[in-house]
Amino acid sequence: MHSINTDELKKRFIVIEGIDGAGTTTQMNLLAGSLRARGLSCVTTAEPTTSPIGMLIRSVLSGKNEAAPSTVAHLFAADRNEHLYGKEGIAQKVEEGALVISDRYVLSSLAYQGVTCGPEIPWQLNSRFPAPGLTLLFEVDPEVCIKRIDTRSNKEIYETLEFQKRVHDMYAVMADRLEQQGWHIERINADGDIETVRQRIEAVVFAFLGVPSCGITGSASRLHS
Ligand code: TMP
Repeated sequence: MHSINTDELKKRFIVIEGIDGAGTTTQMNLLAGSLRARGLSCVTTAEPTTSPIGMLIRSVLSGKNEAAPSTVAHLFAADRNEHLYGKEGIAQKVEEGALVISDRYVLSSLAYQGVTCGPEIPWQLNSRFPAPGLTLLFEVDPEVCIKRIDTRSNKEIYETLEFQKRVHDMYAVMADRLEQQGWHIERINADGDIETVRQRIEAVVFAFLGVPSCGITGSASRLHS
């Protein structure tokens, strides 16, 4: 079995989730910037990763390669396993004292592969991954998100309004299910301009970390204790 300090993970592992176009990547980078400005050691990461497994997933998402939905669910789980337990992975960074923020994690598989395979395969594949300390679930109308995505040049196979609406609904169901398992999930209204959403996120994350919203002191010692 993998050794992982779940208490440390609960203090220093934060995940951001939402349908495509919800703004998770933009907001993760803004949040990391704010935390670093307050003196915290903060690492950002994302799934799918840039590992060979992550690249294989990208080739399926782009439509270049085809794979059965259940195969894709396994690939995401394998990529996540490496992301967590591999060299320079989440577990290692957290052990070293960093705060790790990931753009997507288990809940993405439960939502997306929950739609493509039905809920049980992704649930089983992901049941052994430890819970983060905090998951932020961005809630935005799929119609708004799809307009944002439409401006991108390289579309992926999941980026249709019909599919995103189903993922949106599956996110809600699966977030409730994870909460029943003890996960800490905060729903963020991510509809609005970038600055407004940024402030909503900071309020939740700073409260979770015990970081004062102004000033630089106090918080770092807690994170590095
Ligand atoms: P992104 O890099 O724009 O977030 O795109 C990643 C895509 O992969 C997005 O459509 C969500 C999807 N995805 C899954 O279907 N399952 C997963 O477990 C993860 C991490 C991502």
